[in-house]
Amino acid sequence: QESPRLYTREEVRSHSSPETGIWVTLGSEVFDVTEFVDLHPGGPSKLMLAAGGPLEPFWALYAVHNQSHVREILAQYKIGELSPDDKAASILKTSDPYADDPIRHPALKVNSQRPFNAEPPPELLTENYITPNPIFFTRNHLPVPNLDPDTYRLHVVGPPGGQSLCLSLDDLYQFPKHEITVTLQCAGNRRSEMTRFKEVRGLEWSAGAISTARWAGARLFDVLAQTGHQLSATEAHVCFERLDSDPTGTAYGASIPLARAMDPEAEVLLAYEMNGQPLPRDHGFPVRVVVPGVVGARHVKWLGRVSVEPEESYSHWQRRDYKGFSPSVDWDTVDFDSAPSIQELPVQSAITQPKDGETIESGEVTVKGYAWSGGGRAVVRVDVSLDGGLTWQVAELDGEEQRARKAWAWRLWQLQAPVPAGKKELNIVCKAVDDSYNVQPDTVAPIWNLRGVLTGNRRSEMTRFKE
Ligand code: HEM
Ligand code: MTE
Repeated sequence: QESPRLYTREEVRSHSSPETGIWVTLGSEVFDVTEFVDLHPGGPSKLMLAAGGPLEPFWALYAVHNQSHVREILAQYKIGELSPDDKAASILKTSDPYADDPIRHPALKVNSQRPFNAEPPPELLTENYITPNPIFFTRNHLPVPNLDPDTYRLHVVGPPGGQSLCLSLDDLYQFPKHEITVTLQCAGNRRSEMTRFKEVRGLEWSAGAISTARWAGARLFDVLAQTGHQLSATEAHVCFERLDSDPTGTAYGASIPLARAMDPEAEVLLAYEMNGQPLPRDHGFPVRVVVPGVVGARHVKWLGRVSVEPEESYSHWQRRDYKGFSPSVDWDTVDFDSAPSIQELPVQSAITQPKDGETIESGEVTVKGYAWSGGGRAVVRVDVSLDGGLTWQVAELDGEEQRARKAWAWRLWQLQAPVPAGKKELNIVCKAVDDSYNVQPDTVAPIWNLRGVLTGNRRSEMTRFKE
């Protein structure tokens, strides 16, 4: 076997621009990733932060890279190793940016520890109409900041000729307090079902990337009005940015159309309470955005800045993620600019009891689950089939009554049904119908997409009976 080519750290460092080529190191290995920079799913500018040096400090933060498919991509670009002297020096002591994350509830099913992503187990998800704070699903892209409520300030940029605001928590409490029940769902909810059909890139969420809380705070409308912002005739967007940026200078950000923000009926909140408590750290302490009826990604946590811009947020998570594509689009052909950012979500439902593959007593079966639709569309019906979709029964809806066009929260549902004698197995299927008569597609094939978002196919589960 040929011995690898050796490079000094100095040589690697001198390859940090498109003219010289872009090199990086991982451990003692050296890679020329010039060709990959424009293909990077996280964007070229992020990758460039590591140009000419080690990946470890960045990958410690973006732990999505600790996956075999990422390592395989990198391996294609290997050009050699660090020289022995530099090898020793390359063992970097990277401090753990996640060391200060809060302690979590042990019932949560963890899909990724760093950043922390976890969902309540199906056994608990629909036990309560309001999800208790400690088991509310958590979707973090970065470490959780530890913000001091006394020095916290929210910057709201005013229009030309208007007034910008720098609000303390006490200032925010002076606005009328508005409280609403809102279900939050991540665009990746139920992604694992898409993965089973065909591989996608993303965290493996089961059906628990959805939860419901009573949120209280100031209406965004009231705050924007005080700065002098008005509904404009031209297209505009309200951009939200998280307060502290990580060591790479990245802050989570997202935006919603100004028309939604300025519509008092849309009830967009700058929330400081969740189920009567200050927001837990994982859910955005001290202030987060709550955008009823809209995908979780726009509900920016640890909010630091609000501004009105002619274009959508330039954040990675607005422009290069959280978009839907045709099943025919793959990572070589995807053009993120060609698709709109996800805002309102489609109609959704899932079974939480019995669990898929569970063996139960024969006789009667109790099926339970949740149903929800985006954009304030109410769930008018949930249909359940015990025979794989041939015949259907209507489930009973529980939970708060929904308001027309402002149905922000889910309905829980259940069906109790006798099981035909002699049956050994049931294929239970559920589907919800919203008040625009949107229904869920039968299968995942027509809605499969490379990022595994917007899973809304009807849910199908197998249940067996004890002999
Ligand atoms: C996402 C590869 C360097 C930041 C990704 C993904 C791949 C990848 C394959 C998609 C992962 C998935 O969703 O499963 C690489 C390779 C790199 C590199 C091969 C080195 C040559 C970096 C650096 C940074 C970075 C240095 C940070 C400063 C990101 C971000 C995402 C990402 C922010 C999106 C994460 C998310 O969706 O939450 N990268 N990456 N990457 N990468 Fe990199
Ligand atoms: N806000 C910040 N600052 N950082 C994040 O990583 N994740 C978003 C959104 N707001 C995120 C964020 C995504 S993708 C979702 S689905 C929701 O927060 C999840 O909110 P939760 O963790 O309170 O359930």
